[in-house]
Amino acid sequence: MVAEIINGNEVAKSIRAEIKAEVAKMKSKGIEPGLVVIIVGEDPASQVYVRKKGEACNELGICSETNRLPASTTEEDLLKLIDKYNKDPKFDGILVQLPLPKHISEEKVLLKIDPSKDVDGFHPINVGKMVVGSECYLPCTPHGIQELLVRSGNDPKGKHVVVLGRSNIVGKPVACILIQKAPGADATVTICHSRTTNLPAITRQADILIAAIGQPNFVKADMVKDGVVVIDVGVNRINDPTTKSGTRLIGDVDFEAVKLKAKAITPVPGGVGPMTITMLMKNTVHAAKVHHKWKD
Ligand code: GUN
Repeated sequence: MVAEIINGNEVAKSIRAEIKAEVAKMKSKGIEPGLVVIIVGEDPASQVYVRKKGEACNELGICSETNRLPASTTEEDLLKLIDKYNKDPKFDGILVQLPLPKHISEEKVLLKIDPSKDVDGFHPINVGKMVVGSECYLPCTPHGIQELLVRSGNDPKGKHVVVLGRSNIVGKPVACILIQKAPGADATVTICHSRTTNLPAITRQADILIAAIGQPNFVKADMVKDGVVVIDVGVNRINDPTTKSGTRLIGDVDFEAVKLKAKAITPVPGGVGPMTITMLMKNTVHAAKVHHKWKD
């Protein structure tokens, strides 16, 4: 079997067209959704993500501002800035790019963001709502994975989903979303991580395997069963002297080998990445609707 390649760019494009039409409708009634992205320090991967978020806003007609702060910014100054944006009605969404420099508490920062502007879905109030299955901002990468599965014809209902990785940004929330009693969910979920005993024995049971462990080419062909659906969340930059830049992005999955066994697989880049940003746009538009009491 050679896998179908799940094209995240294509799926993202069709969702973005839906969002763009909604934004145009809102703007015709004088409502302009707004997103502010705050980045502290010079992490190169974060710089790329933040630039892409700004570009997506421009493409869809969402007002955006990027606030780039030096790595030396104090926690107090960052908290004050968040408070300023909490009070500014121009911005419906506030996103603080992670990771933060070590001297700043991620927990304090996430708590400071007004939950109604928390388009990342990282505030404990939104995390709690997600766990109990009430309406909230879902975190963008896990929500993007769910949309990608459903829109590519791989509904997780009744399937055994194995999640590799237990981060607060991907592993834990994607497991939580996919076990909900809800359309696009209803899966049986196992979470594995670096301390899991006999990991390949578990990954081989997966109907759907979600790899989010941050190790290049970690998932080998002998770790999956025939017909598996693979979602590769990894974004690992490796040296490759054959490219112009001297580096190349690869996922957590040995793509060339695993695609020969899988039913469907996402590439890196062009799989989950574009979906993450698209769900951020969706959350921002939703936030604007809530703030302006918009009725569809
Ligand atoms: N760093 C890596 N992924 C994310 C994300 O989804 N949101 C934020 N704020 N930071 C990230």
